[in-house]
Amino acid sequence: MSTAITLNGRRVLITGSGQGVGRGLAHAFGAAGADVLVNDLRTERAQEVVDEIREAGGTALAVPFDVTDYESVTSAVGQAGSIDILVNNAGNAGTEGFGTRNRFADTEPADWEAFLRVNLYGVLHCTRAVLPAMVSGGWGRILTIVSDAGRTGDPGGAVYGAAKAGAAGLTRSLALENGRFGITANNISLGTMRTPMTEPLWADGGSSPQAKAILSSYAIRRPGSPDDLTHLALVLASDHGSWITGQTICVNGGYSMTL
Ligand SMILES: NC(=O)c1ccc[n+]([C@@H]2O[C@H](COP(=O)([O-])OP(=O)(O)OC[C@H]3O[C@@H](n4cnc5c(N)ncnc54)[C@H](O)[C@@H]3O)[C@@H](O)[C@H]2O)c1
Repeated sequence: MSTAITLNGRRVLITGSGQGVGRGLAHAFGAAGADVLVNDLRTERAQEVVDEIREAGGTALAVPFDVTDYESVTSAVGQAGSIDILVNNAGNAGTEGFGTRNRFADTEPADWEAFLRVNLYGVLHCTRAVLPAMVSGGWGRILTIVSDAGRTGDPGGAVYGAAKAGAAGLTRSLALENGRFGITANNISLGTMRTPMTEPLWADGGSSPQAKAILSSYAIRRPGSPDDLTHLALVLASDHGSWITGQTICVNGGYSMTL
């Protein structure tokens, strides 16, 4: 019996995979033999990742589009052909940067748009675009990268957390509606990772009060790295994950533990 995870012949679309967590996932899926569609808002970032995957012997194509624009999403998915695995990864922790904390009472509706459009609408758009072909093909995997901000609450990040909780809720309904078509849907909920999104936190070696407070709340006192979730994502996306659905699996250094 082989325990290696291979995704040969599977086509995966990973949103926001021009850097950070998505880039790590794109490399892992490429190494596992999947045909990787590297999406990002920024064309040059997507193309860089494609070049890296190809140099490593994998197969990849850049599919730049904005996940918040449903027409662009459907047009890109239509051109790409059927997609077996969708990783909803594109996210936005706020236009003012990750460290910015705003109490909900101090926000206005105009401030909410940026969070909801990417973190919730982006997931709705991409999932809606790929799902019909998964249903008719009788196989599919949907992974959505969410945040502990949406599970445990996040003082100062309420709207981001609400958007992530909404996306996580969608996953559970997708699992129930589509299990009979051979489709699974799961969330991976992350604690604070070291990626370009959070880089300001670590720029001074993580010595700021905010960085120290975050790390002291983790059993494993370091920020996560994209490598911390890649193997989990591969399992969930493979045939080995065929009886795991509707779940939210935390990759968070032991930040919170629930039964
Ligand atoms: N970094 C963390 O600490 C952390 C914690 C919890 C959850 N997450 C989630 O993990 C995911 C990846 O985060 P990251 O840290 O790698 O972020 P990042 O900001 O480093 O990278 C995100 C990528 O998504 C792209 N993107 C943004 N908006 C897009 C859009 N509208 N359409 C297409 N692409 C778009 C960006 O150009 C960027 O390349 C996000 O969903 C984020 O919310 C991150």
